Amino acid sequence: MDKFVIHGGRPLRGRIRVHGSKNAALPMMAASLLLHRGGRLVLRNVPDLADVRTMARLLGELGVDVQRSGSSLALTVVDDRPVRAPYDIVKTMRASICVLGPLIARRGEAQVSFPGGCAIGSRPVDLHLKGLQRLHSRIGVRNGYIMARGRLRGSTVYLGGTFGSTVTGTDNILMAAVLAKGRTVIEHAAQEPEVQELAHLLNLMGARIEGIGNHRLLVHGVDRLHGAQKTVIPDRIEAGTFMAAAAITGGDVTIENVHAEDMTVVLETLNQMGVRLEAGTYTVRVNARGLKRLDPVDVTSLPYPGFPTDLQAQFMAILTLAKGISVVTERIYPDRFTHAAELSRMGAEIRKQESTAIIHGVPRLSGAPVMASDLRAGAGLVVAGLAARGRTEVLRVYHVDRGYDRLEERLSSLGANIRRAKDAAATATAPAAATA
Ligand code: EPU
Repeated sequence: MDKFVIHGGRPLRGRIRVHGSKNAALPMMAASLLLHRGGRLVLRNVPDLADVRTMARLLGELGVDVQRSGSSLALTVVDDRPVRAPYDIVKTMRASICVLGPLIARRGEAQVSFPGGCAIGSRPVDLHLKGLQRLHSRIGVRNGYIMARGRLRGSTVYLGGTFGSTVTGTDNILMAAVLAKGRTVIEHAAQEPEVQELAHLLNLMGARIEGIGNHRLLVHGVDRLHGAQKTVIPDRIEAGTFMAAAAITGGDVTIENVHAEDMTVVLETLNQMGVRLEAGTYTVRVNARGLKRLDPVDVTSLPYPGFPTDLQAQFMAILTLAKGISVVTERIYPDRFTHAAELSRMGAEIRKQESTAIIHGVPRLSGAPVMASDLRAGAGLVVAGLAARGRTEVLRVYHVDRGYDRLEERLSSLGANIRRAKDAAATATAPAAATA
């Protein structure tokens, strides 16, 4: 197992280009299942990540040949009969659930291993299943598998929950509805840019989706889709992670290939901390030079356009060093705080009360061995390590590799002292549950 070894305290400087979005690419890849045999999707700007490789492996089981050339993926349907998404793949990546909707819609049947809980909470899929039932699919659970069958017909599907909407649930219902007979209205659809991207791709494939980006989507079912090509949007979470790394180190970094309009709340939060920002067409300069300590802020994760839960840990890391008290509230995954205990091991003062963490900023963190329990918690610990005094070891970086392509090389290119090493002490215990 690998770990990151970080010697903190170096301000990051320079320019860095953001890769394509993981959470946009994964459902877009699953959309290939909507095609007939011989149909092909070409996706450009696809990040080379563990999760993308896992989705490619799953699609391989489902009759899709996936070939990478540079940052492009060509996905060609070579067999449109398989319907089973096996446990050994689904258990490593929850985004595997995105194959459910397209499989039923196009192949009339799906058998998808039921994703379990994970490090960030219980993560149910009830809304996905209820939505598919509304589209007249018969759903059952047998031997740990979701068994779905039926010819889909349009209907009204409501996707709201206490937390807002569901991102991959909206993906699934959209991919089912585009081939369902008649008209589907999706109420309380997720509005995340990644969901919008999927909808745009589906329209390029011949679907008829109206209202993209709104809470209500209208889908007119079509008989058949065709191949298409699309460039994946930049990863706003990777961009936000680099911004956090620049801010916490008193750095000055220009982040390239960013859609700043998708990140308004993140930029506003940095601005409230006192970080100077300059947004260009596709760039954002994050300048914290000379700022001794940043101002505290309150952060509440919410569905888009609210603050992304996937940046909560990285921003909590910054706030551990702010000059005052900050309150971080998690409204998407109330238990997504495993990084808080690890940050405390580095000297942070964090008190957790239900889904809220109260952070008393301290003047400095000190390096320590810490454990990444999920992808974004790991990223948060890396951000903290970049500012901590002395040596930090972030263990279990396979979590981080799921969503960041060679994070240590990219941060090194900005002047960070971080390297990957083998964790000799790590036992060969099975990796913890999936998160993304
Ligand atoms: N929820 C339900 N029922 C459902 C579905 C969701 O109660 O049927 C609840 C969840 O428990 C949670 C909330 O709804 O409280 C939101 O979950 P959502 O379904 O939106 O999450 P997701 O689709 O499983 C995606 C991302 C996550 C990201 C969340 C929230 C992908 C592949 N994953 O997950 O990304 O945190 O949306 O924005 O797009 C990551 O990249 O590290 C990651 C975990």
